[in-house]
Amino acid sequence: MSDQQNIAYRIEGGYPVNGEITCLGAKNFAIKAMVTALLGDSPTTLTNVPAIGDVDITAELLASVGATVTRTAQNTLTIDPTTMNTSIIPIPHSGGNRAPILLLSTLLHHFETVSVPVVGGCQIGARSVDYHLDAIRQFGGIVDETGDGYVAHKVEHLKAAHIHLPYPSVGATETCLFLSVLAEGRTVISNAAIEPEIFELITMLRSMGAIIFTSPGRKIRIDGAKHLTGTRMEVFGDRIEAASWAALACASDGNVTVHGIRPDTLGNFLSYFQKVGGGIELKGPNSIRFFRKETLRPTIIETDVFPGFSTDWQQPFAVLLTQADGTSIIHETVYEKRFGYLKDLETLGARTQVVTHCLGDADCRYRDRNYDHSAIIMGPTPLTATDSITIPDLRAGLAYVIAAAIAHGTSTIKGIHYLERGYGNIVPRLVEMNLKIERVTVEQDSLDTEREMKTIDG
Ligand code: EPU
Repeated sequence: MSDQQNIAYRIEGGYPVNGEITCLGAKNFAIKAMVTALLGDSPTTLTNVPAIGDVDITAELLASVGATVTRTAQNTLTIDPTTMNTSIIPIPHSGGNRAPILLLSTLLHHFETVSVPVVGGCQIGARSVDYHLDAIRQFGGIVDETGDGYVAHKVEHLKAAHIHLPYPSVGATETCLFLSVLAEGRTVISNAAIEPEIFELITMLRSMGAIIFTSPGRKIRIDGAKHLTGTRMEVFGDRIEAASWAALACASDGNVTVHGIRPDTLGNFLSYFQKVGGGIELKGPNSIRFFRKETLRPTIIETDVFPGFSTDWQQPFAVLLTQADGTSIIHETVYEKRFGYLKDLETLGARTQVVTHCLGDADCRYRDRNYDHSAIIMGPTPLTATDSITIPDLRAGLAYVIAAAIAHGTSTIKGIHYLERGYGNIVPRLVEMNLKIERVTVEQDSLDTEREMKTIDG
C-alpha cells in the first residue's frame, strides 16, 4: 500500500459552510486540451490547468511519446509536440484515465502505427470504447484490440467520414473531432455531444487553424486542414466542482460564493437547485452565491446529456436530497452502475433504496436491463458522523465530503487519493470556508485496500 493510500480526511461536521471558493480549471477539459496540443506543429500553452492527479497522469502519457510538457508557471503548462518520437505508449503499472483512447486518434495523424494501453476510469459501468474504434475505422484506420490495449494503423492519410454516433458520447465526439480536423475532406458528425467541454475543444481547435462549423441538432461539420499550429488556451472553470459547492452550501444551510464559474456551463443545474429550495445570486460574470432559500423540497431528477442534469452532479445532489422534506427520486440514464456510493451514505443515517426500474421517462441507455436504474431518497434525515467510510469513485468522494460536513460529529473518509485525482487542494480551500477538515494518516484494513485497487478516476 502506498503512503498516499494511508491518508484520510477527518471532518468535524454539523456547521454551516460559509465563504468564498474559486473553481479550479475543469478536469474534463484540461486533459483533452493537453491531448489536443499534440495536433499542433508548434508548442501550446494552457493556463488555469488544475493541479490534480489526472493532469499528472496525462502529462506522463504525453511525455511517454516524447512530447515536452513543462510547468512554466503555477497552473500553466506548455506542451511541445515537436519532440514526439514514438507512438507506442507503454502499459502503465496501475491506474490510468480516459486519455489513452483519445491519444489513439490524435497520434494516428503523426504515425503509421499507434499503440495505447486500455482506458481507465471510475467503475461506474462498462464504459466501452466501441464508438471510438468504429470512428477510427470509418476514417480509414485499422484497429486491433489486444488484451491490454489498442493498436491502430493507417496505410494512407486519414480520409473524412460521415459519422452518426449511436449516442452523443462526449469522448467519441472528441475522437471524431481529433480524427477529422487533419483528415482529407469534409467530415460530418451527427448526434454529437454538445457539452460545454466540447464547445471549448472546438474553440481551441479553431484557434489552431481547424475549420469547424456547428449547427443546431447536434451536427458538426469539419473541413480537414493541412496542418494545425500551437495555441494558447485557458481552461474554463469546473462545472462539476461548482455544482458540488452549491450542494455543500445548501445542504449545510450555509452560504458560499463560487468564483471562476461561467453560469451558462451549469445548464439546467441552476433550475433544479432552485426547485429544491436553493437560492442563487449572480455576483458577477463568473461568480454565483449559493445558499438555502427555503425548506428543501423533494424532487425527481433524471440524469442526461447536456443541457440536462449531468450524471456527474448526481452524487453531491443526492446528499442534498437527504435533507429535503419528503421522498426524492434519481433516475440515472448515462451509467449502469452509478449508485454504489449510496450504501455507505446509509452509515451516516441517509435512507435510500436503489431499484432496478427506470423511475422516469427519459431515454435510459440501459432500459429493461437488470441494473440499478433509480434511487429513492427519503428525507429529511439528520446525518451523524461515521468512522468507516471509504470512497468508491471520484464523484462519490466529494459527495462523502459534503455528507461528512453536514453530519454531526467527526467522520473519517478513506480512499481520498482517488478524490484527489479530480479535485485539487481540497483541504485548504474548504478550511477557508470554515469547514473543520484535515488530512490525517490512518491504518486501512485489507477490505478497503482491495476495494480501492478496483477504483480509478473519471
Ligand atoms: N459509451 C459507449 N461506447 C463508447 C463511448 C461511450 O457505450 O464508445 C457509453 C458509456 O459507457 C456511457 C455513455 O456512453 O454509458 C456516456 O459516455 P461518454 O463517452 O459520454 O463519457 P466519457 O467521455 O467516457 C466523460 C467524462 C465523464 C462524464 C461523461 C458524460 C471525462 C474524462 N469523463 O466521459 O466524467 O460522466 O463524459 O458527461 O471527460 C467524471 O468526471 O467523474 C466522469 C465520469
